[in-house]
Amino acid sequence: MCMTNNIPQGSIPIIDMSNWEDPKVAKSICDAASEWGFFQIVNHDVPVEVLKNVKDATYNFFRLPAEVKNKYSKEHSSSNNVRFGTSFTPQAEKALEWKDYLSLFYVSEEEAFALWPSVCRREQVLDYMKKSEVVIKQLLQVLMKGLNVDEIDEAKESLLMGSMRTNLNYYPKCPNPKLSVGVGRHSDVSTLTILLQDEIGGLFVRGNEGDDWIHVPPIKGSLVINVGDALQIMSNGRYRSVEHRVVANGSNNRISVPIFVNPRPTDMIGPLPELVANGEKPIYKQVLYSDYVKHFFRKAHDGKKTVEFAE
Ligand code: SIN
Ligand code: FE2
Repeated sequence: MCMTNNIPQGSIPIIDMSNWEDPKVAKSICDAASEWGFFQIVNHDVPVEVLKNVKDATYNFFRLPAEVKNKYSKEHSSSNNVRFGTSFTPQAEKALEWKDYLSLFYVSEEEAFALWPSVCRREQVLDYMKKSEVVIKQLLQVLMKGLNVDEIDEAKESLLMGSMRTNLNYYPKCPNPKLSVGVGRHSDVSTLTILLQDEIGGLFVRGNEGDDWIHVPPIKGSLVINVGDALQIMSNGRYRSVEHRVVANGSNNRISVPIFVNPRPTDMIGPLPELVANGEKPIYKQVLYSDYVKHFFRKAHDGKKTVEFAE
């Protein structure tokens, strides 16, 4: 049986981050990113209290009356950095996704304090992002080392994590789950995504063997990590951005809180110069990150097609 970090093939690896610098742990992170594109981390440094607070902030926001939430809809929001919505690209989808979300774009704490509404409990959301930054940096350091990129200088840090977005996701109980989806199949456009999910479950990932869908079981205190398209492109295909989807649930409401760790919109992304300097053939071209994201948002969640934009 093939094993990754002692997890049998057929389930998403679970990685203990307490010894993240140990070469064996580092290898299991890089292997998970290239074989699965998805893994869960436990014993990371994000305090349980911080995770609980951001979940409470999410429940709290979605309990607000519709007229309060609607103040942040596309039509009404006073800032592009704050967006309340339902479904992904309603104008392009055949069936709407059974989901509401509040999306919060982050470049700096000052801007977040100025633009994010207090009703989303922005202190708690910001604390979750800030505390997660520690583990994000650990993961990126390990993943870059796995590509023989030993130093993350300022320019590279900006490319890997120059902007972020947090979504508070709410999947209401669906009266006819077979006719709908929570989120249609897609891959993320991020460098990395850090996802906090509650105990309900429903996230499925395309297995590394091909057509099978593997459930990502909720584990108390864990965070789900996945490679996004930007890192697949930067790693010249070494790390995989993998399709995933969320099923609609007929019995329970579900919440999740992803942090999308992204390049800056103005960055050009492409295979890292360190990789192609060794004579490796670049399999992606350089693209402006904001163009890549625009392309993603023009279509429905209909599978892993966005990366073609960089081929
Ligand atoms: C997403 O991939 O868009 C959401 C994942 C989740 O809610 O589990
Ligand atoms: Fe996603």
